[in-house]
Amino acid sequence: MADKITLSVIKADVGSISGHYMPHPDQLAAATKVLSEAKQKGLLIDFYVTHVGDDIQLIMTHTKGPDHPDIHGLAWDAFQAATKVAKELKLYAAGQDLLSDAFSGNVRGLGPGVAELEMEERKAEPVITFHADKTEPGAFNLPMYRIFADPFNTAGLVIDPRMHAGFVFEVFDVYEGKSVLLKTPEESYDLLALIGTPGRYIVRRVYRKEDNLLAAVVSVERLNLVAGQYVGKDDPVAIVRAQSGLPAVGEILEAFAFPHLVAGWMRGSHHGPLVPVSMRYARVTRFDGPPRVLALGWNISKGRLIGPADLFDDVAFDETRRLALQIAEYMRRHGPFMPHRLGPEEMEYTTLPEVLERLKNRFVKTEEVKVVKRHSEMLSGEHD
Ligand code: 13P
Ligand code: 13P
Ligand code: MG
Ligand code: MG
Repeated sequence: MADKITLSVIKADVGSISGHYMPHPDQLAAATKVLSEAKQKGLLIDFYVTHVGDDIQLIMTHTKGPDHPDIHGLAWDAFQAATKVAKELKLYAAGQDLLSDAFSGNVRGLGPGVAELEMEERKAEPVITFHADKTEPGAFNLPMYRIFADPFNTAGLVIDPRMHAGFVFEVFDVYEGKSVLLKTPEESYDLLALIGTPGRYIVRRVYRKEDNLLAAVVSVERLNLVAGQYVGKDDPVAIVRAQSGLPAVGEILEAFAFPHLVAGWMRGSHHGPLVPVSMRYARVTRFDGPPRVLALGWNISKGRLIGPADLFDDVAFDETRRLALQIAEYMRRHGPFMPHRLGPEEMEYTTLPEVLERLKNRFVKTEEVKVVKRHSEMLSGEHD
């Protein structure tokens, strides 16, 4: 039997031009050089380097399996090379996502986001990689639910006998570091009870129930929790396999036709719509956003990456984008108020606590009774 192929998507923000906008071409070239040397040596079968916003995306195929130190070490070296360029050019936030100075066998917990999917290649192996900027891993919860569990999105759940039994979702609790498996359709309400809190419960993997085939993987790294402070949002990546007993490419993309609100945007502290964009628009300006997602379509052939197809580069998503921009405008008008600004639990990992700390000593205890009395006196005109 042929070797299993692993598709590894590993990303990091290691600095960018003009704020959190996009990497410099020389950074992408530096990362590409490291990966092409690895391809020549036979460590990688194939690779592609791109970016969404300020995040560099390494899309790699190999036969080493997930979590392999050689592959993670390679990604680390590529990010180091891109960081070196960022430092030379004095780009903003050089090395932002590399939380450690030393690599210790696995990039998980060191800053980069990781989604890896090991597969036995089917006769045709269509796969989509998703790359988002200015948001968090839980941003994929809603679309993953719609792709794999909502028949109003995915016709195949009703029509295709190979999908009819449903899917199993692995949900990861980022605060506890624990996972739970939930079956759909029978446990849909339990699933929704968790993943409706996307800052904590993240859809990490999805399996086809019939044969446990791994259909989707999402990066779950939450940098703020790793670093204990704000170091940029945990801009996520995802891999979804398509067709032949799995949701069709169009069913997968359909889940992004509704620009739902996600956490991220300016200073990782605001809700905004997730805008599906082509590679041309995979860079952020307005209020450092709004959050956006890129979809790249591939066929994998003996590990070779055939593609990418720039899947949101279609007028059919123009209305989604138009609605998203209207929502962006509407949300922006709230300025510093919730629910545009995130709630207090999420703000704990930003610089806001420092501001609140300064106000702490200025609070004085008020005697409620006196205040109420004075108010009533004022109203009745009997003041002293
Ligand atoms: P600065 O305080 O470096 O301007 O950072 C703001 C910001 O962009 C947060 O990432
Ligand atoms: P990134 O997480 O994309 O670096 O964005 C950080 C930020 O603070 C944007 O305002
Ligand atoms: Mg950044
Ligand atoms: Mg980013």
